[in-house]
Amino acid sequence: MFKKMPKKLVAPSILSADFANLEKEIKAVSEAGADWIHVDVMDGHFVPNITIGVPVVKSLKKVSPIPLDVHLMIDEPEKYIEQFVKAGSDYLTIHVEATKNPEAVLKQIRSLGAKAGITLRPGTAVSEVLSFLPLCDLVLVMTVEPGFGGQSFMHDQIVKIATLRAEIKKQNLQCLIEVDGGINAETAKLCHEADVFVAGSFVFGKDYKKAIAELKEG
Ligand code: DX5
Ligand code: ZN
Repeated sequence: MFKKMPKKLVAPSILSADFANLEKEIKAVSEAGADWIHVDVMDGHFVPNITIGVPVVKSLKKVSPIPLDVHLMIDEPEKYIEQFVKAGSDYLTIHVEATKNPEAVLKQIRSLGAKAGITLRPGTAVSEVLSFLPLCDLVLVMTVEPGFGGQSFMHDQIVKIATLRAEIKKQNLQCLIEVDGGINAETAKLCHEADVFVAGSFVFGKDYKKAIAELKEG
């Protein structure tokens, strides 16, 4: 008997969706097999782009049949955690570079009842997040520089996935590994040790059902 491969989750990033029709887009990707909706929050400080904030997350929560996976690319996330959890974030991920005290912020997310995630820029060493893994439900490996959709996948980040997988095993943790940036059918295969694939332009740029199915094959 072959050991059954664990199922991969797909989280389409609405950054590449039609912003004038988010309800329609969310329902369409949900029906096409998406597991979570990935929501990219940018503040124009931590990254050189501004996207959406708390009121939009609150509105998305009302119409989304699947969990919201909120990726905070903002400085001092501690100032906004309570608002983002109350708005309906199921997973809330912070950047290790964005706060002086990641431990406290992760504990705060969990204490408010959401799942906590940590992530890092491509230039940050993976060793910077290892000590926080026991406080996390999710660890996100950025495979592009955060800030924009549609960039090319950075192959030199793949090694971080293996390091995290080994550490999660060693510490016997339940933490999921997610990858984000330049993910398509080919690059997802290179990240086969990950559990969750975020994809913006790949999913919203074509037949949603076909794109999601291709990622799940990975
Ligand atoms: C980039 C964001 C990503 C982005 C991915 O800062 O974190 O979630 O939307 O877009 P693609 O899949 O097009 O690289
Ligand atoms: Zn993201």
